Amino acid sequence: MLRRLRLTNSIRDLVSEVNLKPSNFIAPFFVIEGNNIVQEIKSFPGVFRYTIDKLLLEIKEILSKGIKSVLLFGVIDEKFKDDLGSYALSEDNVVCRAIREIKNSFDDIVVAADVCVCNYTSHGHCGIVVNGKVDNTKTIEVLGKIALNYAKAGADIVTPSAMADFQVMQIRKVLDENGFNDKIIMSYSAKYASSFYGPFRDIANSSPKFGDRKTYQLDFRNIKQALSEVEKDIQEGADIIMIKPALSYLDVIREVKNRYNVPIAAYNVSGEYAMVKISAKEGIIDEKSVAIEILTSIKRAGADIIISYWAKEIAELL
Ligand code: PBG
Repeated sequence: MLRRLRLTNSIRDLVSEVNLKPSNFIAPFFVIEGNNIVQEIKSFPGVFRYTIDKLLLEIKEILSKGIKSVLLFGVIDEKFKDDLGSYALSEDNVVCRAIREIKNSFDDIVVAADVCVCNYTSHGHCGIVVNGKVDNTKTIEVLGKIALNYAKAGADIVTPSAMADFQVMQIRKVLDENGFNDKIIMSYSAKYASSFYGPFRDIANSSPKFGDRKTYQLDFRNIKQALSEVEKDIQEGADIIMIKPALSYLDVIREVKNRYNVPIAAYNVSGEYAMVKISAKEGIIDEKSVAIEILTSIKRAGADIIISYWAKEIAELL
């Protein structure tokens, strides 16, 4: 009789295979210039833009709930953008300042920062555009510089998300040359051209102004290219491999888990989160139990780390 293992709550807990743990979560945050501002975005309920002072308060909260890691994205006004994403290269931009202040304020916190230019370029693409196309060589050069700035500011993890070839190799080289060989690279190795990024692009103000990202992000019909990307990134020196989005790509997570021995992070992206949030608001589903089911399925598929906008709420529940 198979049902005897499901008879009581305690028996079910006893035999449970996969359990969520707050310390395996990374909470993403959007940082803006200014003071004393928490901005709400209509298309992204439950997620906010914070100025650094407000961000520190929010981080204090999540730390008290057992979340130990954060991932930072900078968000800037259109008027500070240019074709080269120059803002991203400043050692004193809002992300670098946030990293410094977070590291000064909290012991033993893990700070990761997104290495990309789409939030900072006037065209909204993830690299340097030449003749209407993202130029790989110019792009990775810029990514290397951004990663170095984050390392200098005190980030523990740099997180290249531009889907440029050799981005990990370039970043590893620049970090090593500058004495930062202890910095972790968490690479968005298998990042798909997905329609689940909508709310993120609204909050990060990062939609491409022409075309789409299909010339660099992966085609969702394919898994083999994802595995090649992962293999390349491991060879180039990535410490943690990321798969993104998570929910429509559980097969990719599982396949990477079966083949490689590196920690796997899965990014449960904005659209995946917002669908649940909005359905729950309409009374169609129960947000908390659906969130736990989704996040557990991501872990069961093989993710060691989950990047999730639910990090704080889940930690409260667990
Ligand atoms: C881009 C980037 C994106 C996300 C994180 N970094 C989206 C994109 O390609 O436009 C999406 C995350 C989310 O949807 O939660 N560098």
